[in-house]
Parts: sequence; C-alpha cells; structure tokens
Amino acid sequence: MNETLNVIHNRRSIRSYTPEPITDDELHEIIQAGIYAPSARNSQDWHFSVVRDAAVLGKLKEIMKENMLNSGVEFLTKRASEPGFVAFFDAPMLILLSADEKERFAAIDCGAAAENIALAAESLHIGTCLMTSSELLFARDADGKLKKSLGIPDGYRHVCALTVGHKDGEQPAPAPRKENLVNTI
Ligand SMILES: Cc1cc2nc3c(=O)[nH]c(=O)nc-3n(C[C@H](O)[C@H](O)[C@H](O)COP(=O)(O)O)c2cc1C
Repeated sequence: MNETLNVIHNRRSIRSYTPEPITDDELHEIIQAGIYAPSARNSQDWHFSVVRDAAVLGKLKEIMKENMLNSGVEFLTKRASEPGFVAFFDAPMLILLSADEKERFAAIDCGAAAENIALAAESLHIGTCLMTSSELLFARDADGKLKKSLGIPDGYRHVCALTVGHKDGEQPAPAPRKENLVNTI
C-alpha cells in the first residue's frame, strides 16, 4: 500500500486526546488540506473557524454540555451526565465548518473538506473526530451571537466540526465494514 492509502486506512475517529497543543505549522497544513478539497462549481463557499484559545474552547465545551443535558435526547443527556464528562472529548482544538445557507451542496463540500482535514491530520499523526452533533452548540443561539463570536460569516450555517489533538492511547481498531456495497458493471 502506498502512503496515501495507508493514511486513509489508518484514520480513525479519535475520542481521547493529550493536552499537547497543535503547532502553527501543523494547523496550517491541515487547514490547507481542507481548503484544497473539491467544492460544487468550485464555489468554496465554506468557512473554517479554528478554536484553540483555552478560554473560548472551555466556554464552548460548557455550552455544548449544557445543551446536551437539555437536548431531550436520551443518549446525549446520559453521556453528558457521566462523571468527568467534557464535551468535544476535551480536545485541545476544534475546527467548525460552516457554509453559505444558499449553497445546495454545502454538506457535501464541507464533508469533503472535513475528510481532507482528517486525512492530513492523520498523516501528521494527529487525531480527529468528525462530528455533526456539534450543531447542538447553536441550539440556544437564536440571536446568532455565538456564531458571530466564532467568526462564522452572516448567512452561513454550521455544518460539522472536527475535534483535533494528539492521540491519547491506542489507535482504535476499525469498525467492521458492511459487505455487498459495491457492484461493478
Ligand atoms: C457525518 C458524520 C457525523 C458524525 N458525527 C459524529 C458525532 O457527532 N459524534 C461522534 O463521536 N462521532 C461522529 N462521527 C464519527 C463516526 O461515528 C465514525 O466515523 C464511525 O463510527 C466510523 O468510525 P471511524 O471514523 O473510526 O472509521 C460522525 C461521522 C460522520 C461521517
């Protein structure tokens, strides 16, 4: 297997991180990988909000926990009630992907960018977890203040997030893959 295929196969969703920060060079490389993803009509109507300031990140983890507790979704409430629970797996960095509300293919564009970020990070031995439950962050943001404070442009909506950090512990084994998903004609 070549190096690219190795990285694709080794990438796992990482849910346990060390506090070691991501360097500026590492951040630059992984964000560039996101920016170089394909987008429908080459619209590039996406935005990457990188949060690594400890105080801001701490506040987001608190908001997320609070919103999980009040979500009315049993498994989220249960998880957030666990002793020592910290949202976003207590990662030292969070990348929030948002896209123009008018872009029909926003989810696909951001999904491609997010996977590029995850693969670039893996190539640097950095762990990530792609999340859409991050939308809960904005569950009580009707006035858009939180979005604005995170630099999400007007008219953009949150699509997904990636937790980013150095892996703490063993690489998880890949989940079994379903069979009979492909036909070739
Ligand atoms: C669109 C999407 C949304 C996801 N949302 C979450 C999430 O909210 N929380 C989480 O822990 N993992 C989330 N994941 C990660 C999946 O659980 C994970 O990719 C899957 O279990 C396969 O494991 P692997 O990534 O290690 O191969 C998401 C993945 C995708 C593609």
